[in-house]
Amino acid sequence: MLDLQGMARSAILNTREYIPGKPVEAVKRECGMDRIIKLDTNENPLGPSPLAVEAMIREIRENAHLYPESLCPELVAKLSARFNLPAGSFYMGNGADAVITMMGLTFLNPGDEVVFPELSFPAYDNIGAKMGAKRIRTPMRPDFTIDTEAMAKAVTPRTKLVFLCNPNNPTGLMTSKKEFETFMARIPETALIVSDEAYWEFADSGDYPDSLEYLKTHRNLIVLRSFSKVMGLAGLRIGYAMADPKLVRVMMKAREPFPVNRIAQAGALAALDDHEFIEKTKRLNREGLAYFYESFGAMGLTCYRSSANFVMVDVGRDADLVFGELLKKGIIVRPLKGQGVETGLRITVGLMEENRMLIQALKDILF
Ligand SMILES: Cc1ncc(COP(=O)(O)O)c(C=O)c1O
Repeated sequence: MLDLQGMARSAILNTREYIPGKPVEAVKRECGMDRIIKLDTNENPLGPSPLAVEAMIREIRENAHLYPESLCPELVAKLSARFNLPAGSFYMGNGADAVITMMGLTFLNPGDEVVFPELSFPAYDNIGAKMGAKRIRTPMRPDFTIDTEAMAKAVTPRTKLVFLCNPNNPTGLMTSKKEFETFMARIPETALIVSDEAYWEFADSGDYPDSLEYLKTHRNLIVLRSFSKVMGLAGLRIGYAMADPKLVRVMMKAREPFPVNRIAQAGALAALDDHEFIEKTKRLNREGLAYFYESFGAMGLTCYRSSANFVMVDVGRDADLVFGELLKKGIIVRPLKGQGVETGLRITVGLMEENRMLIQALKDILF
């Protein structure tokens, strides 16, 4: 018998396995259905950027046999010009997920502290657990916004990483410019602030903070972004961080030799110029959110004003049960019971037809 207790790192043995949203193939098999409406992982309902698809096909044909360029120089040059930051400020990874993992590997010793809101992206808790760090979860405000004051108060000399998800997953709520400013001023330089902005393109309020401005003055800020959402490249796995070049250089030591594959690099490069697709995606999202607000309102359900491509709604019944009923109808959403919101669902904005089917199915289940 293998003695895993003695063999695996104790932090890993104590980590709860991360259960991602159900893949569409698995649900089709389980439900025996051909058509599944997948509204559980905040992917782009329009599919991938068409310009990215063309570029990726070309790249596969011509270069799939070659290792990729390790540092993604073309992509970094483009991002660097777009955001007016030195190339050394970019850390590219196999999805924003992998960048979070690298932050953990680079900065967390056992016993260090990681601070994050109790209702937020589960990867923060997960990386803290894997590294044997102490996870400090701060309470939400009653309206489900992030209590940045509570977060700042929770920071101690042992705190290494502070995760602020903006807009926050799973609430869709954003932290405003003014609040971000106050928060930044309160976090000492001994702790790194990670502004996770996987959904920033959807946050069209004038009150959304321009975190890149703060990179110039706050050397302990890391801004995290992804190609999975507005660009429609979740299956490719590509995301990045922007930070002080010194921080980037130290994270480079922790990474694998080829973290971003060639196809993803080619796709991301092309997607950045697919303005038509990006605008179409944002428009569809705005229309979908407006439809959800109106429909949930008419059903007497509370939902929260989202700055992202999903919405949190209180269905007033056990979220796991409602999730199960929707699944029987071939619709996948994310129940939030496991994250402490007993009657909450997180629903990705889909195509209008999908949104209508979701609302009809919910009406059938709830009324
Ligand atoms: C807040 C947040 N951060 C990071 C990620 C991970 O993004 P990626 O697909 O680039 O790994 C997600 C994915 O859903 C997310 O919701």
